[in-house]
Amino acid sequence: MNYLDTISGLHKLELEQLNRRIESRLGTANPLMSRIIISLLRTKGKQLRPLLLIMCAKLFGASDDKVIAAAAAVELIHNASLIHDDVVDNSPTRRGQPTVNAVWDNHIAVLVGDFFTSSAMHEAISTGDLRIIDALCELGRFLSLGEIDQIYNAREHTLGEDEYFRIVDYKTASLFVASARMGCIAAGAPDDKTETLARFALLFGRCFQLRDDVFDYFDESAVGKPTGNDLREGKVTLPLLKAIATGASGHDRIKKMLGKDMLTDDEIAEIQKFARENGGIELTYETMKQLKAEATELLAGFSDENPVKKQLAELFDFIITRQF
Ligand code: FPP
Ligand code: MG
Repeated sequence: MNYLDTISGLHKLELEQLNRRIESRLGTANPLMSRIIISLLRTKGKQLRPLLLIMCAKLFGASDDKVIAAAAAVELIHNASLIHDDVVDNSPTRRGQPTVNAVWDNHIAVLVGDFFTSSAMHEAISTGDLRIIDALCELGRFLSLGEIDQIYNAREHTLGEDEYFRIVDYKTASLFVASARMGCIAAGAPDDKTETLARFALLFGRCFQLRDDVFDYFDESAVGKPTGNDLREGKVTLPLLKAIATGASGHDRIKKMLGKDMLTDDEIAEIQKFARENGGIELTYETMKQLKAEATELLAGFSDENPVKKQLAELFDFIITRQF
């Protein structure tokens, strides 16, 4: 059993309430929508975002209906963004299952994503708290902007760390930040503690993405899974940016390759190798270590007596070391 299973087990009751709430919110008489939703709900994913929301609320002693509704809102908009992302990326599979766009088509997938987004809004509104609704709306804007930014940078072949982190903050970390903030608001936490946890969640979200990005540079034959997908989609991430920034021999050739609209499998393998051999992976882990150090300092402001504090620190470690 990995640490995520252990920690999810500690919040099992709330996660069960969350899933019942989501199922009931997505219930519909339309047979096609129902069929798609039943199949989507079978593969839930790790539910890390609602878990973080529930943990932040429990840090302040709350786990009532308002917390669960806020958690449902976050999980629903997250799933909406993945359904739409698979249309944008034309992806055939997600979580080991065929995507909605692959089984049906883009028209259906866009509408199913819209249904999830509207259901998320309903959940947020059911909390009766304008700050929670505001956090959800802001999140929707960030997710869309992150996706557009990513497409723009891929088309323009932009290669900057600042641009990279802006995309990560919008498309990935924003979900964790909104989760922490909504959990704190639902629990009536003081503003300064809410902002501390929102910052913790930003660092957490960045590490979550960095771990994902590192994986894409591994040697396919060594990990037994396809890698290089980001490069195939025109996305240049931190391991490669770090390796190029060392100015190592061959970096000009790599930069030239990255200016192309399509890369061959051989080119992708060469770029991955360049990143691996020029410290890209180690330097990205070094960045994660720095982010973790700041996150640890942020947690110092909470009492050791509170069990959730330790769980948050351990969840951070899990994010950095996870194998999937
Ligand atoms: C996955 O990234 C995609 C996201 C984290 C966000 C996608 C956001 C949108 C499509 C906008 C949605 C907006 C609303 C309001 C619902 P990835 O393609 O890098 O990762 P993947 O490997 O998981 O596909
Ligand atoms: Mg994608």
